[in-house]
Amino acid sequence: MLQFPSHGANYEALYKNFGLDLPEVVFDLSENVNSLGIPKQIEKLWPSLQQQLLTYPHPEAEPLRTMIATKHHVQKECVLVGNGGAELLTFYAQLYRGKKVILVHPTFSEYKMTLEAAGADVIDLTISDVAAYQLPIEEIKQEMTDADCLYLCNPNNPTGALISKTILLELIQYGEKVGCAVLIDEAFMDWTDEEHSAINLVNEFKHVTVLRSMTKMYGIAGIRLGYLIGSPQLVRDLRKRLPHWNVNNLAISIGVECLNDEQFRQESINYQHKQKVYLVDYLLSRNCIVTNSVVNFLCFQLANPTDTREFYFHCLKRGVVLRHTENYIGMDGKWLRIGIKSAEALAKFQEVMDEWYA
Ligand SMILES: Cc1ncc(COP(=O)(O)O)c(C=O)c1O
Repeated sequence: MLQFPSHGANYEALYKNFGLDLPEVVFDLSENVNSLGIPKQIEKLWPSLQQQLLTYPHPEAEPLRTMIATKHHVQKECVLVGNGGAELLTFYAQLYRGKKVILVHPTFSEYKMTLEAAGADVIDLTISDVAAYQLPIEEIKQEMTDADCLYLCNPNNPTGALISKTILLELIQYGEKVGCAVLIDEAFMDWTDEEHSAINLVNEFKHVTVLRSMTKMYGIAGIRLGYLIGSPQLVRDLRKRLPHWNVNNLAISIGVECLNDEQFRQESINYQHKQKVYLVDYLLSRNCIVTNSVVNFLCFQLANPTDTREFYFHCLKRGVVLRHTENYIGMDGKWLRIGIKSAEALAKFQEVMDEWYA
């Protein structure tokens, strides 16, 4: 039985796992980190960071925490900085031991893993039409009456689709009425417009928490940096559980540079947008179904979905790594996710797909 890894990236292990020879050149389109790399200012700062290895970091990740609060127009008491969004997800899940949490699939697989590890009772709902990505609102509301929390991923990983503010508000207001908290994971919101974010609702609704990751947009997956914006009470509760000095000095300094570099963010959005338009046109010309993504990855389905595995391995053997969807509930391996990377990487993907159809 083939064992598919539960995450993208780490392609060397992937080839080894499948017993495949590692091609000389590999384009990894299975993960979603910015293909433009890191903001240039970080490179300049790098030598001076050595000095920071000597000291303990600020326990509240200052001055980054205050900068985040200013950026999002919230009090700093509403901000909790984490060693990657993944750390915050792990600790947030622990609040729901023995409680009911709703997930809407297909979505980020780490939610279910962290919640189950924390002893939560997970209610799995599934969207029927992956490409259209319309949330089953009535079904969600029905479950909310009896649940403690609803997780939403916006824009959603793996589809890249956005949930409208109107729908978010409807679910948030319903959650307030029936006592169901709402966690909105905006790990990829930096790739689109801040107007879609639910952060401005956190002040008004104490049961709403928003998670952000800095690793995707700023190309810093290795340093681990994310944050959460929620009620001061929730931030205090989680803070008590987290390790002291959970965010290291390098991450704090690098995070400050990232937030100062709005130009880098805009250039990244523009670059990936150009590549995405080109890629979507190509996939449609191959009769694929493509998700309506607002971010730096998308999902597609082959005209004949039963060929998906074969196509996935064809790509691997030719040095193009896509993200399988075997462990995404509601996709069952019949879709593939592709990161919108460099023009060179996407041209290689196209060449490999052309070859498949030839
Ligand atoms: C939807 C989503 N949320 C959160 C994370 C965690 O991000 P990080 O720990 O790198 O900040 C990821 C990482 O892949 C993700 O895809």
